[in-house]
Amino acid sequence: MIKNWDEFLIPYEQAVEELKVKLKSLRKEFRDVNEYSPIEFVTGRVKEISNIIEKSRKKKVEIEEIEDIAGIRIICQLVADIPEVVKIIRNRDGKDLKIVEERNYIDNQKESGYRSYHIIIKYTVHTAFGEKEVLAEIQIRTLAMNFWATIEHSINYKFDKKIPKDLKKRLKNAAEAANRLDEEMSKIKLEIVDAQEIFMIRSSLVAKILKKIQFLYFSGNMEKEKLKKLQEEFYIYRESGSIEDLRNLNRKLEELNQKYYIND
Ligand code: GTP
Ligand code: MG
Repeated sequence: MIKNWDEFLIPYEQAVEELKVKLKSLRKEFRDVNEYSPIEFVTGRVKEISNIIEKSRKKKVEIEEIEDIAGIRIICQLVADIPEVVKIIRNRDGKDLKIVEERNYIDNQKESGYRSYHIIIKYTVHTAFGEKEVLAEIQIRTLAMNFWATIEHSINYKFDKKIPKDLKKRLKNAAEAANRLDEEMSKIKLEIVDAQEIFMIRSSLVAKILKKIQFLYFSGNMEKEKLKKLQEEFYIYRESGSIEDLRNLNRKLEELNQKYYIND
């Protein structure tokens, strides 16, 4: 039996603090280079002493064998971000942490409706009293999964883990609604990214065409009437032409530029 809980929990507290700092700084690194971060936010906690004792008794395991005394939660915007975060953690396996086990409750949703990706790790902290390796549980989930799990957990707590059957069913339905929300948000995001890409392609084509028309004007070797026609064609395509129209015009101008000995 543990006599001094404060002392026992020190390495767990340190592990949670260090992991939080490391994971939060990952988010900042993405942000600093204007890249999308697969990590939205990170939280962490050390399990309550009463819950540690209860879990050890119920599961008939030693206190040190409990995997989630140190718990980290990584919240992502989208389901597709989860494997990205898993990759980042796997890349650190054998470096500043050791992966003990992975549990994929994303593809294997729990009976309750719970979804998350869990990674159990071993993490070494260096305290004033020496090195200590502790177990920690990292839960990776979307905002929608977190919303569901947080409320389900508090309901579970209220009913002392004996939720009435009808309420269980409703929570299961709510979990399905959360899954649909995740799916819809992913679709919306993909469409926005596609639209942004198309916008970028258009802007870049428009810039290239403008440059070529300018060159042709400056070269002075082309009939003004012909050039004016090309410019009018360009104005029309810029307003309402397809990307293909712009590409074709760009190609045509490329050939004309070569004909008049001007490179872009
Ligand atoms: P415990 O569930 O913690 O006793 O451990 P376990 O050995 O069953 O591991 P599991 O991977 O099932 O769960 C680990 C943790 O995931 C839990 O402590 C919870 O934080 C979370 N979790 C698992 N199932 C559920 C669930 O149905 N609802 C909620 N809200 N959280 C869950
Ligand atoms: Mg469980």
